[in-house]
Amino acid sequence: MRVLVTGASGYIGSQTCLELLKAGFEVVGFDNLSNSSEVSITRVRELSGKPLRFEKLDLLDKAGLNRLLKEGFDAVIHFAGLKAVGESVEKPELYRKNNVEGTANLIAAMKEAGCRRLIFSSSCTVYGEVKKSPVDESHPRSAVNPYGGTKLAVEDMCFALARAEQGWHIALLRYFNPVGADASGRIGEDPRGTPNNLMPYVMQTAVGRHAAVRVWGSDYPTPDGTGVRDYIHVVDLALGHLAALNKIDDFAGAEAVNLGAGRGYSVLEVIAAASKAAGKKIPYEICPRRPGDSAAIWADPALAKKKLGWATRRGLEEMCADHWRWQRANPDGYGA
Ligand code: NAD
Ligand code: UFG
Repeated sequence: MRVLVTGASGYIGSQTCLELLKAGFEVVGFDNLSNSSEVSITRVRELSGKPLRFEKLDLLDKAGLNRLLKEGFDAVIHFAGLKAVGESVEKPELYRKNNVEGTANLIAAMKEAGCRRLIFSSSCTVYGEVKKSPVDESHPRSAVNPYGGTKLAVEDMCFALARAEQGWHIALLRYFNPVGADASGRIGEDPRGTPNNLMPYVMQTAVGRHAAVRVWGSDYPTPDGTGVRDYIHVVDLALGHLAALNKIDDFAGAEAVNLGAGRGYSVLEVIAAASKAAGKKIPYEICPRRPGDSAAIWADPALAKKKLGWATRRGLEEMCADHWRWQRANPDGYGA
């Protein structure tokens, strides 16, 4: 099977390229490198020992997309997109154009080339404010910020497309909170600027890039008062894409599937596990709640098990050990 991967040099894209190559797929990747480094691609080639063609290309370049898709692909895995929630509030139009219009361009090029198998990176953010967990795929959807709005819009675009035209097989994979890194410590998450997400901030604190982790709220109705999330090891997440690819023809039109572990950990549990992995106490301070955060959310992963035959295998300890190995060996990410 010949697979095109968009956002190939990014955090989840590079890990998925590696797993695809290891499993024997032929892979071509592209990225505009707006939030990643091509060094990740070089390392994926090294780790897999396989060729990986990579192009610098933007989703907004329609002619470039048409040219590439015409080469002929069995399926597209679409990771490319902007993902910073705060930035999306400041620049909603940039997010709409890049994520929604960019995906429309990709789909148009796929249509033109006759490729109708698509796997899209959606997010649990489409569930909006969640009152009760676990959350299954039938939970009502809503957008709590412009980034989430782009995920809803792309999901809707896919549902409408599949209703209007026969022959599409589209998996909308709703990720929970991806963390961790490849066990080699060679590829991993390299956020630009100060990370908003918990795990990269915790690990950067462990290497001395920040004085202390700011814990956003300790008065939530959770066992220790801090926010609870469903963390998923990035290797498990990448393997979830392989499972979806292997079952893509079972997707009749567009269907959504949660990719999560099905259990939650609190912020303090994550800091404790990360401290254990790093062999040092990672300092933290309790701060006020972060606006827009929910108390707790974790996935009902039953559909992924049933439809894809996939479930997570790596727990919090392994997530922290692997994320730490990457962070320690690459304290400044790929720029080191
Ligand atoms: P990432 O930023 O590391 O990867 C995304 C890649 O897309 C980057 O390499 C970036 O340069 C590229 N890109 C952005 N706009 C582009 C464009 N117009 N043309 C070509 N390339 C472009 O992020 P990630 O964590 O690997 O996320 C991958 C996907 O998964 C994204 O769509 C994201 O919204 C989604 N997602 C991520 C998370 C998470 O917490 N990491 C959770 C749920 C969903
Ligand atoms: N947190 C802290 N301190 C930090 C960062 C986070 O205490 O410095 C807490 C948060 O309050 C939350 C938990 O750690 O309780 C996880 O926060 P993240 O920012 O890592 O992830 P979120 O679950 O808040 O959400 C992010 C994106 C969503 C996306 C979701 C799942 O903001 O859009 O990941 O992918 F849907």
